[in-house]
Amino acid sequence: MMRKWEVIGEGLCGGSWSFPFLEWLKLDPLGQQKKSKKCMDKMFGVWGDLIKQRRMENGSDDVINHGDFLDFMMANGFSDVQMLYMLLEMLPAGAGTLIATSEWAMAELLKNKEAMAKLREELEGEMNSNSIKESNLSKLPYLNACIKETLRLHPPIAFLPHSANSTCEVMNYTIPKNSLVMVNLWAMGHDPTIWDDPLSFMPERFLNSNLEFKGQHFEFLPFGGGRRMCPGLPYAHRQLQLILASLICYFKWSLPNDGQIDMDEKYAVPLQMKKPLLLIPSRRC
Ligand code: HEM
Repeated sequence: MMRKWEVIGEGLCGGSWSFPFLEWLKLDPLGQQKKSKKCMDKMFGVWGDLIKQRRMENGSDDVINHGDFLDFMMANGFSDVQMLYMLLEMLPAGAGTLIATSEWAMAELLKNKEAMAKLREELEGEMNSNSIKESNLSKLPYLNACIKETLRLHPPIAFLPHSANSTCEVMNYTIPKNSLVMVNLWAMGHDPTIWDDPLSFMPERFLNSNLEFKGQHFEFLPFGGGRRMCPGLPYAHRQLQLILASLICYFKWSLPNDGQIDMDEKYAVPLQMKKPLLLIPSRRC
């Protein structure tokens, strides 16, 4: 299985098509390429101005004034174009996925009061001097289980587009070279042949299990697997732990009006809540 994953392990940067023999037509029937070019031009315009402004502020390329990621890239000799493409890789891939996962996790926890109570109890037991620190994070198994369970039910990237870099066979299907293969992570996370009671939010299923999302367990791949696996995984994991721990530790959350949460999904990248989650925070003393 590992070998097969690696054969279909190339990302889509080369512009693959579902039907390789039509590639020469360069069709754009839904206008997606035109739309994405417009979006990219707009983003590059905004970021380009920021880079120009920062270069002027810094005076020279190797002076670090702000100590942030932009300064770091400048100090290491990145050209403007390299920085733009680096930001293009990092920001959309990193920001939306974290926001969507935090929103889904909060929605699930608000709906599942028992899980919320267990998580709060774990956090309160581990919290020292009223704050959550990175050093606490390895001692929070229930928090990790909640994050995994959220990613199982609501993988921010529901379909992984990969292209076959050579003809191969997967489960008796022949995949011709250069074909687009969509790996359906959403379906894998909801598959009743893999998970007991797959539609329920049950973080406990991850508690005494060695199931990880590091690309080794093919039934659970929210960060992908193989060579094009998410390079942001360690950062994303740490951020999700800190975001959720802080939200649950420092605030009490309630629902406005009817107390209902609409869990319908809007298919997009990342996979989002159709109706954004509305919650009322109040400070916990
Ligand atoms: C909940 C958080 C996240 C999830 C679930 C997630 C998931 C994924 C997945 C499924 C892929 C495609 C992997 C594949 O094709 O096999 C991917 C790619 C990528 N992710 Fe993430 N990601 C997350 C957060 C982040 C963050 C925080 C960053 C950066 C700071 C990031 C940067 C990237 C980049 C640059 C790629 C493209 C890699 C490539 O094409 O080689 N991701 N991510």
